Amino acid sequence: MANILDEFKEVHNEAVIDASKKLRIGIIGCGWIAKAHLDSYLKQPDIEIVAGADIIPGKAEAFFKKANMEGVKCYASGEEMVNDKSLKLDAVSICTYNRQHAPCAIQALKAGVHVLLEKPFTVTTEEAVEVMKAERESGKILSIGFQPRLDDNMKMVKEVVQSGVLGHIYYVQTGGGRRRGIPTPFGTSFIEDATAGLGALADIGCYSLDMVLNSLGYPKPLTVTGVKSDFFGKDPNYIGYKNCGHPEYAEKFGVDDFAAAFIRLEGGIVIDFRIAWAMNLDTSSDTIIYGTKGSLRIPSTECWNGSIGGDLVIYHEVAGNQVTTKLPMKKDVPGAPSNFDKKIRSFLDAIKNGTAAPVPSSEILYNQAILDSIAKSSDLGREVEVVIPEI
Ligand SMILES: NC(=O)c1ccc[n+]([C@@H]2O[C@H](COP(=O)([O-])OP(=O)(O)OC[C@H]3O[C@@H](n4cnc5c(N)ncnc54)[C@H](O)[C@@H]3O)[C@@H](O)[C@H]2O)c1
Repeated sequence: MANILDEFKEVHNEAVIDASKKLRIGIIGCGWIAKAHLDSYLKQPDIEIVAGADIIPGKAEAFFKKANMEGVKCYASGEEMVNDKSLKLDAVSICTYNRQHAPCAIQALKAGVHVLLEKPFTVTTEEAVEVMKAERESGKILSIGFQPRLDDNMKMVKEVVQSGVLGHIYYVQTGGGRRRGIPTPFGTSFIEDATAGLGALADIGCYSLDMVLNSLGYPKPLTVTGVKSDFFGKDPNYIGYKNCGHPEYAEKFGVDDFAAAFIRLEGGIVIDFRIAWAMNLDTSSDTIIYGTKGSLRIPSTECWNGSIGGDLVIYHEVAGNQVTTKLPMKKDVPGAPSNFDKKIRSFLDAIKNGTAAPVPSSEILYNQAILDSIAKSSDLGREVEVVIPEI
Protein backbone atom coordinates (compact mmCIF):
# COMPACT_ATOMS: atom_id res chain seq x y z
CA MET A 1 0.00 0.00 0.00
CA ALA A 2 1.32 3.45 -0.86
CA ASN A 3 2.48 5.59 2.04
CA ILE A 4 -0.09 8.33 2.65
CA LEU A 5 2.72 10.92 2.71
CA ASP A 6 3.70 10.00 -0.87
CA GLU A 7 1.00 12.24 -2.25
CA PHE A 8 2.65 15.25 -0.58
CA LYS A 9 6.08 14.52 -2.04
CA GLU A 10 7.22 16.96 -4.69
CA VAL A 11 7.78 14.86 -7.78
CA HIS A 12 9.58 15.76 -10.92
CA ASN A 13 7.68 14.62 -14.00
CA GLU A 14 9.79 14.38 -17.13
CA ALA A 15 8.08 15.99 -20.11
CA VAL A 16 7.94 13.71 -23.14
CA ILE A 17 10.30 15.04 -25.80
CA ASP A 18 9.75 14.24 -29.45
CA ALA A 19 13.19 13.08 -30.59
CA SER A 20 12.16 12.20 -34.16
CA LYS A 21 13.61 15.46 -35.50
CA LYS A 22 16.98 16.44 -34.12
CA LEU A 23 17.98 20.09 -33.91
CA ARG A 24 21.42 20.76 -35.36
CA ILE A 25 23.45 22.75 -32.83
CA GLY A 26 26.77 24.61 -33.00
CA ILE A 27 28.84 26.09 -30.18
CA ILE A 28 30.69 29.39 -30.69
CA GLY A 29 33.56 29.92 -28.24
CA CYS A 30 34.97 26.70 -26.79
CA GLY A 31 36.11 27.93 -23.37
CA TRP A 32 34.91 27.28 -19.84
CA ILE A 33 31.15 27.84 -20.08
CA ALA A 34 30.96 26.04 -23.44
CA LYS A 35 31.54 22.76 -21.54
CA ALA A 36 28.41 23.41 -19.43
CA HIS A 37 26.44 24.04 -22.65
CA LEU A 38 27.81 20.89 -24.26
CA ASP A 39 27.06 18.70 -21.21
CA SER A 40 23.54 20.08 -21.00
CA TYR A 41 22.82 19.64 -24.72
CA LEU A 42 24.06 16.05 -24.56
CA LYS A 43 21.35 15.28 -21.97
CA GLN A 44 18.69 16.23 -24.52
CA PRO A 45 17.41 13.46 -26.83
CA ASP A 46 16.48 15.78 -29.70
CA ILE A 47 19.76 17.48 -30.61
CA GLU A 48 22.91 16.79 -32.55
CA ILE A 49 26.06 18.80 -31.88
CA VAL A 50 27.34 19.31 -35.42
CA ALA A 51 29.89 22.15 -35.15
CA GLY A 52 32.10 24.22 -32.91
CA ALA A 53 34.23 27.32 -33.40
CA ASP A 54 37.00 29.14 -31.59
CA ILE A 55 39.33 31.89 -32.78
CA ILE A 56 42.25 30.30 -30.91
CA PRO A 57 43.72 27.82 -33.42
CA GLY A 58 43.13 24.20 -32.39
CA LYS A 59 40.97 25.09 -29.34
CA ALA A 60 37.65 23.89 -30.79
CA GLU A 61 39.28 20.66 -32.02
CA ALA A 62 40.84 20.02 -28.58
CA PHE A 63 37.52 20.80 -26.86
CA PHE A 64 35.62 18.14 -28.82
CA LYS A 65 38.50 15.65 -28.68
CA LYS A 66 38.43 15.86 -24.89
CA ALA A 67 34.70 15.11 -25.02
CA ASN A 68 35.31 12.12 -27.33
CA MET A 69 33.39 13.91 -30.10
CA GLU A 70 35.98 14.06 -32.83
CA GLY A 71 33.37 13.97 -35.62
CA VAL A 72 32.20 17.50 -34.81
CA LYS A 73 33.20 19.99 -37.54
CA CYS A 74 35.43 22.77 -36.26
CA TYR A 75 35.82 26.35 -37.49
CA ALA A 76 38.25 29.22 -36.91
CA SER A 77 35.45 31.67 -36.04
CA GLY A 78 31.77 31.84 -35.29
CA GLU A 79 31.24 33.80 -38.49
CA GLU A 80 32.76 31.07 -40.66
CA MET A 81 30.64 28.46 -38.93
CA VAL A 82 27.23 30.16 -39.21
CA ASN A 83 27.82 30.96 -42.88
CA ASP A 84 28.55 27.34 -43.83
CA LYS A 85 25.15 26.44 -45.23
CA SER A 86 26.14 22.80 -45.65
CA LEU A 87 25.91 22.48 -41.86
CA LYS A 88 22.15 23.19 -41.88
CA LEU A 89 22.45 24.66 -38.39
CA ASP A 90 19.24 25.21 -36.44
CA ALA A 91 20.78 26.98 -33.47
CA VAL A 92 23.98 28.09 -31.77
CA SER A 93 25.10 28.72 -28.22
CA ILE A 94 27.33 31.79 -28.09
CA CYS A 95 29.88 31.24 -25.33
CA THR A 96 32.47 33.87 -26.28
CA TYR A 97 33.79 36.56 -23.94
CA ASN A 98 31.56 39.63 -23.54
CA ARG A 99 33.08 41.82 -26.28
CA GLN A 100 32.34 39.12 -28.86
CA HIS A 101 28.69 38.62 -27.85
CA ALA A 102 27.26 41.28 -30.17
CA PRO A 103 29.24 40.49 -33.34
CA CYS A 104 28.71 36.72 -33.02
CA ALA A 105 24.98 37.11 -32.27
CA ILE A 106 24.47 39.45 -35.22
CA GLN A 107 26.35 37.10 -37.57
CA ALA A 108 24.31 34.09 -36.42
CA LEU A 109 20.94 35.85 -36.61
CA LYS A 110 21.76 37.24 -40.06
CA ALA A 111 22.62 33.69 -41.15
CA GLY A 112 19.13 32.61 -40.03
CA VAL A 113 20.15 30.64 -36.93
CA HIS A 114 18.43 30.69 -33.50
CA VAL A 115 20.71 32.03 -30.76
CA LEU A 116 21.23 31.23 -27.10
CA LEU A 117 23.56 34.04 -26.04
CA GLU A 118 25.47 33.83 -22.77
CA LYS A 119 25.05 36.64 -20.25
CA PRO A 120 25.72 39.55 -20.12
CA PHE A 121 23.65 40.46 -23.21
CA THR A 122 26.46 42.69 -24.58
CA VAL A 123 28.79 45.37 -23.22
CA THR A 124 27.01 48.54 -24.37
CA THR A 125 23.37 49.48 -24.90
CA GLU A 126 24.08 50.36 -28.53
CA GLU A 127 25.41 46.84 -29.19
CA ALA A 128 22.31 45.29 -27.60
CA VAL A 129 20.11 47.42 -29.86
CA GLU A 130 22.05 46.27 -32.96
CA VAL A 131 21.62 42.63 -31.92
CA MET A 132 17.88 43.21 -31.45
CA LYS A 133 17.60 44.73 -34.91
CA ALA A 134 19.19 41.59 -36.34
CA GLU A 135 16.84 39.50 -34.20
CA ARG A 136 13.77 41.34 -35.53
CA GLU A 137 14.91 41.12 -39.15
CA SER A 138 15.72 37.41 -38.86
CA GLY A 139 12.53 36.33 -37.07
CA LYS A 140 14.73 33.86 -35.16
CA ILE A 141 14.74 33.23 -31.41
CA LEU A 142 17.29 35.07 -29.29
CA SER A 143 17.40 34.02 -25.64
CA ILE A 144 19.88 35.39 -23.11
CA GLY A 145 21.57 32.95 -20.74
CA PHE A 146 20.15 33.94 -17.35
CA GLN A 147 19.60 30.49 -15.82
CA PRO A 148 19.01 31.71 -12.19
CA ARG A 149 15.67 33.05 -13.43
CA LEU A 150 14.55 29.45 -13.97
CA ASP A 151 15.23 28.52 -10.34
CA ASP A 152 12.11 27.63 -8.32
CA ASN A 153 13.03 30.03 -5.51
CA MET A 154 13.65 32.88 -7.93
CA LYS A 155 10.22 32.15 -9.38
CA MET A 156 8.79 32.39 -5.85
CA VAL A 157 10.36 35.85 -5.44
CA LYS A 158 8.61 36.98 -8.61
CA GLU A 159 5.31 35.41 -7.54
CA VAL A 160 5.43 37.26 -4.20
CA VAL A 161 6.19 40.60 -5.84
CA GLN A 162 3.61 40.13 -8.59
CA SER A 163 0.91 39.01 -6.11
CA GLY A 164 0.53 42.60 -4.91
CA VAL A 165 1.04 41.61 -1.26
CA LEU A 166 3.79 44.24 -0.95
CA GLY A 167 1.57 47.06 -2.23
CA HIS A 168 3.31 49.81 -4.18
CA ILE A 169 7.02 49.05 -4.42
CA TYR A 170 9.11 52.18 -4.05
CA TYR A 171 12.65 51.14 -3.05
CA VAL A 172 14.89 48.14 -3.69
CA GLN A 173 18.27 47.35 -2.21
CA THR A 174 20.14 44.69 -4.14
CA GLY A 175 23.53 43.45 -5.18
CA GLY A 176 26.05 41.05 -3.84
CA GLY A 177 29.62 40.14 -3.92
CA ARG A 178 32.51 37.96 -3.02
CA ARG A 179 35.11 38.62 -0.38
CA ARG A 180 37.88 37.57 -2.76
CA GLY A 181 36.60 36.36 -6.11
CA ILE A 182 38.05 38.03 -9.18
CA PRO A 183 37.64 35.27 -11.79
CA THR A 184 41.22 34.69 -12.90
CA PRO A 185 42.11 31.03 -12.52
CA PHE A 186 41.27 30.36 -16.20
CA GLY A 187 43.08 33.29 -17.79
CA THR A 188 42.34 36.96 -18.34
CA SER A 189 39.22 37.03 -20.53
CA PHE A 190 37.11 38.32 -17.60
CA ILE A 191 39.51 41.06 -16.53
CA GLU A 192 40.89 42.63 -19.72
CA ASP A 193 38.96 45.48 -21.27
CA ALA A 194 39.55 44.13 -24.79
CA THR A 195 37.72 40.88 -24.01
CA ALA A 196 35.38 41.60 -21.07
CA GLY A 197 34.53 45.31 -21.41
CA LEU A 198 32.83 45.25 -17.99
CA GLY A 199 33.92 43.33 -14.87
CA ALA A 200 31.87 42.49 -11.76
CA LEU A 201 29.02 44.52 -13.24
CA ALA A 202 28.63 42.22 -16.24
CA ASP A 203 29.71 39.01 -14.57
CA ILE A 204 27.48 39.00 -11.48
CA GLY A 205 25.81 42.43 -11.27
CA CYS A 206 23.55 41.51 -14.18
CA TYR A 207 22.14 38.60 -12.10
CA SER A 208 21.22 40.75 -9.08
CA LEU A 209 19.54 43.23 -11.38
CA ASP A 210 17.67 40.49 -13.23
CA MET A 211 16.35 39.05 -9.96
CA VAL A 212 14.68 42.32 -8.99
CA LEU A 213 13.83 43.69 -12.43
CA ASN A 214 12.24 40.40 -13.50
CA SER A 215 10.19 40.34 -10.29
CA LEU A 216 9.07 43.91 -10.86
CA GLY A 217 8.09 43.19 -14.48
CA TYR A 218 11.10 44.96 -15.99
CA PRO A 219 10.17 48.64 -15.53
CA LYS A 220 12.05 51.04 -17.77
CA PRO A 221 15.20 52.59 -16.25
CA LEU A 222 15.20 56.39 -16.35
CA THR A 223 18.40 57.72 -14.71
CA VAL A 224 21.52 56.26 -13.14
CA THR A 225 24.21 57.60 -10.84
CA GLY A 226 27.00 55.07 -10.80
CA VAL A 227 30.54 54.56 -9.59
CA LYS A 228 33.01 51.79 -10.28
CA SER A 229 36.48 51.03 -8.98
CA ASP A 230 39.38 48.61 -9.40
CA PHE A 231 41.32 48.75 -6.09
CA PHE A 232 41.69 44.96 -5.78
CA GLY A 233 42.10 44.16 -9.46
CA LYS A 234 44.94 46.62 -9.91
CA ASP A 235 46.84 45.39 -6.84
CA PRO A 236 49.75 43.01 -7.74
CA ASN A 237 49.54 41.66 -4.18
CA TYR A 238 45.90 40.60 -4.61
CA ILE A 239 45.76 37.11 -3.11
CA GLY A 240 44.02 35.57 -6.13
CA TYR A 241 46.91 36.57 -8.41
CA LYS A 242 49.39 35.08 -5.96
CA ASN A 243 47.36 31.87 -5.76
CA CYS A 244 47.30 31.42 -9.52
CA GLY A 245 50.92 32.57 -9.91
CA HIS A 246 50.13 35.61 -12.07
CA PRO A 247 50.96 38.92 -10.33
CA GLU A 248 51.18 40.48 -13.83
CA TYR A 249 47.37 40.20 -14.09
CA ALA A 250 47.24 43.44 -12.06
CA GLU A 251 48.72 45.24 -15.10
CA LYS A 252 46.18 43.64 -17.42
CA PHE A 253 43.19 44.42 -15.20
CA GLY A 254 41.05 46.88 -17.18
CA VAL A 255 37.51 46.54 -15.79
CA ASP A 256 35.56 47.17 -12.54
CA ASP A 257 35.93 44.94 -9.47
CA PHE A 258 33.30 46.99 -7.59
CA ALA A 259 30.39 49.13 -8.68
CA ALA A 260 27.50 50.89 -6.97
CA ALA A 261 24.55 52.83 -8.30
CA PHE A 262 21.32 54.64 -7.57
CA ILE A 263 18.87 53.75 -10.34
CA ARG A 264 15.52 55.47 -10.93
CA LEU A 265 12.88 53.33 -12.70
CA GLU A 266 9.53 54.12 -14.23
CA GLY A 267 6.72 53.84 -11.68
CA GLY A 268 8.51 55.73 -8.92
CA ILE A 269 10.85 52.88 -7.96
CA VAL A 270 14.51 53.32 -7.07
CA ILE A 271 17.18 50.65 -6.84
CA ASP A 272 20.17 51.01 -4.55
CA PHE A 273 22.69 48.58 -6.02
CA ARG A 274 26.20 47.37 -5.29
CA ILE A 275 28.32 44.53 -6.61
CA ALA A 276 31.85 43.35 -5.82
CA TRP A 277 34.28 40.76 -7.10
CA ALA A 278 36.36 41.54 -4.04
CA MET A 279 35.70 43.45 -0.80
CA ASN A 280 36.65 43.44 2.86
CA LEU A 281 33.28 42.09 3.90
CA ASP A 282 31.44 38.76 3.87
CA THR A 283 28.34 40.02 2.08
CA SER A 284 27.20 43.36 0.81
CA SER A 285 23.76 42.60 2.33
CA ASP A 286 20.43 41.02 1.55
CA THR A 287 18.14 42.11 -1.25
CA ILE A 288 15.21 44.03 0.23
CA ILE A 289 12.14 45.13 -1.68
CA TYR A 290 10.24 47.87 0.17
CA GLY A 291 6.49 48.18 -0.44
CA THR A 292 3.69 50.25 1.06
CA LYS A 293 1.89 47.13 2.38
CA GLY A 294 4.87 44.91 3.02
CA SER A 295 8.58 44.47 2.42
CA LEU A 296 10.37 41.36 1.24
CA ARG A 297 13.80 40.25 2.45
CA ILE A 298 15.73 37.87 0.19
CA PRO A 299 18.79 36.60 2.05
CA SER A 300 22.02 37.17 0.15
CA THR A 301 23.71 34.27 -1.56
CA GLU A 302 27.29 33.32 -1.89
CA CYS A 303 27.53 35.20 -5.11
CA TRP A 304 26.26 33.58 -7.46
CA ASN A 305 24.95 30.05 -7.12
CA GLY A 306 21.75 30.77 -9.00
CA SER A 307 19.31 30.63 -6.10
CA ILE A 308 18.44 32.59 -2.96
CA GLY A 309 20.42 32.45 0.28
CA GLY A 310 17.65 31.36 2.67
CA ASP A 311 13.95 31.61 3.53
CA LEU A 312 12.11 34.64 2.18
CA VAL A 313 10.70 36.95 4.85
CA ILE A 314 7.78 39.35 4.43
CA TYR A 315 7.30 42.17 6.96
CA HIS A 316 3.72 43.39 6.91
CA GLU A 317 0.80 44.53 9.04
CA VAL A 318 -2.33 42.56 9.89
CA ALA A 319 -5.17 44.38 11.75
CA GLY A 320 -2.69 46.85 13.18
CA ASN A 321 -0.19 44.17 14.21
CA GLN A 322 3.36 44.07 12.84
CA VAL A 323 3.66 40.58 11.40
CA THR A 324 6.61 38.67 9.99
CA THR A 325 5.90 35.82 7.58
CA LYS A 326 8.50 33.30 6.50
CA LEU A 327 8.28 31.58 3.14
CA PRO A 328 10.52 28.53 3.38
CA MET A 329 13.03 27.98 0.59
CA LYS A 330 12.01 25.28 -1.85
CA LYS A 331 14.39 22.36 -1.74
CA ASP A 332 15.89 20.75 -4.81
CA VAL A 333 13.77 17.86 -6.01
CA PRO A 334 15.92 14.78 -6.56
CA GLY A 335 16.32 14.05 -10.27
CA ALA A 336 14.99 17.45 -11.36
CA PRO A 337 16.99 19.26 -14.03
CA SER A 338 19.49 21.90 -12.93
CA ASN A 339 18.81 25.54 -13.73
CA PHE A 340 21.40 25.26 -16.49
CA ASP A 341 19.64 22.23 -17.99
CA LYS A 342 16.36 24.17 -17.84
CA LYS A 343 18.01 27.02 -19.72
CA ILE A 344 19.03 24.70 -22.56
CA ARG A 345 15.72 22.80 -22.59
CA SER A 346 13.57 25.94 -22.60
CA PHE A 347 15.58 27.31 -25.54
CA LEU A 348 15.10 24.07 -27.52
CA ASP A 349 11.38 23.97 -26.65
CA ALA A 350 10.93 27.56 -27.86
CA ILE A 351 12.53 26.62 -31.20
CA LYS A 352 10.45 23.47 -31.61
CA ASN A 353 7.15 25.02 -30.52
CA GLY A 354 7.69 28.38 -32.20
CA THR A 355 7.14 30.15 -28.87
CA ALA A 356 8.80 33.26 -27.43
CA ALA A 357 12.39 33.30 -26.16
CA PRO A 358 12.49 32.08 -22.55
CA VAL A 359 14.66 35.07 -21.54
CA PRO A 360 13.76 37.76 -24.08
CA SER A 361 16.14 40.44 -25.28
CA SER A 362 13.39 43.06 -24.81
CA GLU A 363 13.72 42.60 -21.03
CA ILE A 364 17.47 42.17 -20.81
CA LEU A 365 17.93 45.34 -22.87
CA TYR A 366 16.98 47.31 -19.72
CA ASN A 367 19.41 45.29 -17.63
CA GLN A 368 22.16 46.04 -20.15
CA ALA A 369 21.25 49.72 -20.34
CA ILE A 370 21.62 49.97 -16.56
CA LEU A 371 25.07 48.28 -16.58
CA ASP A 372 26.21 50.53 -19.40
CA SER A 373 24.79 53.65 -17.73
CA ILE A 374 26.59 52.82 -14.46
CA ALA A 375 29.87 52.67 -16.39
CA LYS A 376 29.10 55.88 -18.29
CA SER A 377 27.98 57.75 -15.15
CA SER A 378 31.13 56.66 -13.35
CA ASP A 379 33.34 57.88 -16.21
CA LEU A 380 31.49 61.22 -16.37
CA GLY A 381 31.25 61.67 -12.59
CA ARG A 382 27.55 62.57 -12.69
CA GLU A 383 24.03 61.21 -13.11
CA VAL A 384 23.10 60.10 -16.63
CA GLU A 385 19.79 59.67 -18.37
CA VAL A 386 19.30 56.12 -19.65
CA VAL A 387 19.06 56.51 -23.41
CA ILE A 388 17.89 53.54 -25.44
CA PRO A 389 18.08 54.02 -29.22
CA GLU A 390 15.10 53.07 -31.41
CA ILE A 391 15.04 49.46 -32.58
N1 LIG B 1 25.69 31.49 -17.38
C1 LIG B 1 26.72 31.20 -16.60
O1 LIG B 1 26.58 30.59 -15.55
C2 LIG B 1 28.08 31.66 -17.02
C3 LIG B 1 29.20 31.22 -16.29
C4 LIG B 1 30.47 31.59 -16.74
C5 LIG B 1 30.60 32.42 -17.85
N2 LIG B 1 29.49 32.88 -18.49
C6 LIG B 1 29.62 33.80 -19.65
O2 LIG B 1 30.12 33.04 -20.74
C7 LIG B 1 31.01 33.84 -21.52
C8 LIG B 1 32.31 33.08 -21.74
O3 LIG B 1 32.92 32.81 -20.50
P1 LIG B 1 34.07 31.71 -20.40
O4 LIG B 1 34.44 31.61 -18.96
O5 LIG B 1 33.69 30.47 -21.12
O6 LIG B 1 35.24 32.46 -21.21
P2 LIG B 1 36.50 31.82 -21.95
O7 LIG B 1 37.47 32.93 -22.12
O8 LIG B 1 36.93 30.59 -21.20
O9 LIG B 1 35.94 31.33 -23.36
C9 LIG B 1 35.56 32.20 -24.39
C10 LIG B 1 36.05 31.59 -25.69
O10 LIG B 1 35.46 32.31 -26.79
C11 LIG B 1 36.43 32.32 -27.85
N3 LIG B 1 36.03 33.34 -28.84
C12 LIG B 1 36.06 34.69 -28.72
N4 LIG B 1 35.59 35.27 -29.83
C13 LIG B 1 35.22 34.28 -30.68
C14 LIG B 1 34.65 34.25 -31.98
N5 LIG B 1 34.33 35.37 -32.65
N6 LIG B 1 34.41 33.04 -32.57
C15 LIG B 1 34.70 31.90 -31.90
N7 LIG B 1 35.26 31.87 -30.67
C16 LIG B 1 35.50 33.04 -30.05
C17 LIG B 1 37.73 32.60 -27.12
O11 LIG B 1 38.85 32.30 -27.89
C18 LIG B 1 37.58 31.69 -25.89
O12 LIG B 1 38.10 30.40 -26.12
C19 LIG B 1 31.18 35.16 -20.78
O13 LIG B 1 30.47 36.18 -21.44
C20 LIG B 1 30.61 34.90 -19.39
O14 LIG B 1 29.95 36.03 -18.84
C21 LIG B 1 28.25 32.49 -18.11
